[in-house]
Amino acid sequence: MEHEVKRLEEDLQKDIEKASDASDIEALRIKYLGRKSPLAELFSQIPSLSTEEKKIWGKNLNILKQKITTLIDEKLSGFEGKEEEIDLTFPSRPVERGSRHVISVVLQKICDIFAHLGFVVIEGPEIEDEWHNFTALNFPSDHPSRDAFDTFYLDLKEGKKGKQLLRCHTSPSQIRVMQKNKPPFAVISPGRVYRPDEVDATHSFMFHQVEGFAVGQDSNFAHLKGVLFYFARQFFSPDVSLRFRPHFFPFTEPSAEVDISCIICGQGKNKKKTTRCSVCKGKGWLEVLGCGMIHPNVLEACGIDSKKYQGFAFGMGIERMAMLKYGVSDIRLFCENDVKFLEQFNL
Ligand code: DAH
Repeated sequence: MEHEVKRLEEDLQKDIEKASDASDIEALRIKYLGRKSPLAELFSQIPSLSTEEKKIWGKNLNILKQKITTLIDEKLSGFEGKEEEIDLTFPSRPVERGSRHVISVVLQKICDIFAHLGFVVIEGPEIEDEWHNFTALNFPSDHPSRDAFDTFYLDLKEGKKGKQLLRCHTSPSQIRVMQKNKPPFAVISPGRVYRPDEVDATHSFMFHQVEGFAVGQDSNFAHLKGVLFYFARQFFSPDVSLRFRPHFFPFTEPSAEVDISCIICGQGKNKKKTTRCSVCKGKGWLEVLGCGMIHPNVLEACGIDSKKYQGFAFGMGIERMAMLKYGVSDIRLFCENDVKFLEQFNL
């Protein structure tokens, strides 16, 4: 038996030296400690020994078993340490790059087009007062035209210029610029606006607008048309047509709403209404913005002599522009943080 134990120890030593990974070690555990191992074979010989030998070999074999287990465990823990080592050659996870939001991209595009014509970009505050948001823009305080725009009022102390509110349009930027600057000037003013509108596919309580206006001694409606034609052709397509429809805004007189020929079916332009387009609903035209000549009352409210100066103004919704340009059918998609949707505009 002594001889067999010695051989077993030598074989184990050799095998352990040869083992090169954790699975080799697991195989050795079965070979040396399993039910059919040489050690199990030695244990099975004990019943045939004398009482004295039984004592000695019972103890020796248990010590051997412990020794084998320790050798195997030690070798295995050496491998485990190695497997956890950092592999510096392993390729890293791809870095996800963010991108600008489509509304920011469109806002920038719009501002760039007007900047090219000499308009200066200025941002007004989102928290306004009643005077800048309504009164100075020729909305009398009890006039029903305020209703369509009525907005979120803030629970703050009422100042000389009325209650504080979240502006419902970017038009108050006109007032802030005209109060502080002497004409001539041409300004574009982008930013967020707020309305207590029920949210649906085309309405939201918060959206973005761009306001544009120019004041000078001879600024006229022809200039307004020229500027808007240039913008529409740059922003949508070089062969888009414009249509001006008379409209009412308190702060402009005369006022108009502007349509572009449908960029999908082009029918407004070609006048042959053959198919029913799902974007313009067969009308051939798409409403894009409001505009007009700045009302003399607005100029006077800002301390500008309306006998000497005149100006034009226009305002458009940025979400609406983005929806028309990229064929987006629901305004809610812009603020749902759906990366799959937003990634499409990674322009
Ligand atoms: N402020 C208007 C609105 O929010 C848009 C607008 C219309 C602006 C005509 C203008 C304008 O400057 O002349 O609906």
